[in-house]
Amino acid sequence: MDRVLIFDTTLRDGEQSPGIALDVGEKLEIADQLARLGVDIIEAGFPIASDGDFEAVEAIAQSVKGPIIAGLSRTGFKDIDRAWEAVRHAERNRIHVFIATSEIHMRKKLRMTHDQVKAEVAAGVARAKSYTADIEYSPEDAFRSDAEFMVEVCQIAVDNGATTLNIPDTVGFGVPEDFGKLIAYVIDTVKGEYVVSTHCHNDLGLAVANSLAGVSNGARQVECAINGLGERAGNAALEEVVMALRTRADYFNGLETNIKTEELSLTSRMVSRLTGYPVQFNKAIVGRNAFAHEAGIHQHGVLEDPETYEIMDAGSVGQEAAQIVLGKHSGRHAFSDSMEKLGLHLQGDALNQAFVRFKELADRKVQITEADLEAIVAEELGTGVVHRFSIASFEFRGGTSATPSADVVLTDGGTKVEGHGEGNGMIDAAIAAIAEATGVRGTVNEFHVSSVTSGGDALGDVVLQLDADGVRASGRGVSTDVVEASARAYLAAVNKIVRLRDRTEVRERVVGP
Ligand code: KIV
Ligand code: ZN
Repeated sequence: MDRVLIFDTTLRDGEQSPGIALDVGEKLEIADQLARLGVDIIEAGFPIASDGDFEAVEAIAQSVKGPIIAGLSRTGFKDIDRAWEAVRHAERNRIHVFIATSEIHMRKKLRMTHDQVKAEVAAGVARAKSYTADIEYSPEDAFRSDAEFMVEVCQIAVDNGATTLNIPDTVGFGVPEDFGKLIAYVIDTVKGEYVVSTHCHNDLGLAVANSLAGVSNGARQVECAINGLGERAGNAALEEVVMALRTRADYFNGLETNIKTEELSLTSRMVSRLTGYPVQFNKAIVGRNAFAHEAGIHQHGVLEDPETYEIMDAGSVGQEAAQIVLGKHSGRHAFSDSMEKLGLHLQGDALNQAFVRFKELADRKVQITEADLEAIVAEELGTGVVHRFSIASFEFRGGTSATPSADVVLTDGGTKVEGHGEGNGMIDAAIAAIAEATGVRGTVNEFHVSSVTSGGDALGDVVLQLDADGVRASGRGVSTDVVEASARAYLAAVNKIVRLRDRTEVRERVVGP
């Protein structure tokens, strides 16, 4: 096969990143964009894990056209039946069955013998095959498994109907040469018709390198996630795998993917906005500095010929400089037009709310850029999610001698609720006021402030993580005033916590992955 299949697991492994809690609407928005990006397979979730996961996988299977929609499942029949229920409506569906094969996982986590694991795989894969032809099997923690035993189990999976063998480096322990050899060993040893896949975690920062070593040794599917999201240090970053294959086609013998690379930046920004996970400035491919040249000597070279310092064209990954798009006099039509061009499809109340925020911003900032517009939506305005609380008015006071204090009026559905707070600074006071008004008090354990563009009137962009009522949620807020941005971010996190807490579902604790 001269093509590498891209299996995106942003919505499954990516969603397992601490603090990410996407609801069905948010997952659908991402899945639609992944389809536009051209991924071959979307792993939409782990249907047995919770009712919310099931609903999301089912909704994606029902409405997203193009990619294969996969659901993850352990080997037990209850899991497999639930996974099938969730993916069955997809144009093309896949059940992804996994069970660990490493000594430590079998002994300590599964408490199963080698023979029991083999029996589980035979029965689980056969059950999945009774539902659909497209079955993937993953020997979890494959890299740390006894290789002979691991391929024996893979052979059982293929004999019972698995069409893809995915080889995970679950804990990111592999180095490229060894991981590549393991892939070659699987291909040489396991008989039958199947595609070999990689699934590499990034604990040593080697996930992309290991995945590519897998490809060089015959893997033709790579499991990866947008912005490298995933358990702990994450998974291989989709955008890096794809652009390495494309940019170094000479090295990878012209292997292609189906990805429309011009959609990469937009997809990255959308995932960042909905998950609340910022993209590091110098992140390869999609970081805001990935194509910026600082040193004079570099700038001079690039002006003479971009190839002096650029191995890729910024436009080929959808990274153009933020352009000035709108100002104070721009109307609703121009606003919604610009949003559409940015891939932000707002309608109804969400569009109205975003337009009001845009007008407020235009009063404070002369030129509104694409980056500003995205930041406005980043505050969850466009996600189609109904927020319980929103800000009606907000006052705060501070100075070198006064005790910082804040007063906030929020709308809670139709009613107004008020809160007053004092703190060791104005942000602290604002948070205390919102906590009083909403009744949600928690601990802010992550707090990042950055600016969306440059200049004294730039928007401040605050991302924080809040722990409250046993739930962790992220929130994002933007404003030309960082105190207000912080208050907005805090309120966004509170809204998420209320939403999650109020869901009747209790997320079932599942073993692995
Ligand atoms: O990391 C892992 O092993 C996994 C499997 C479920 C594929 O996520
Ligand atoms: Zn994983």
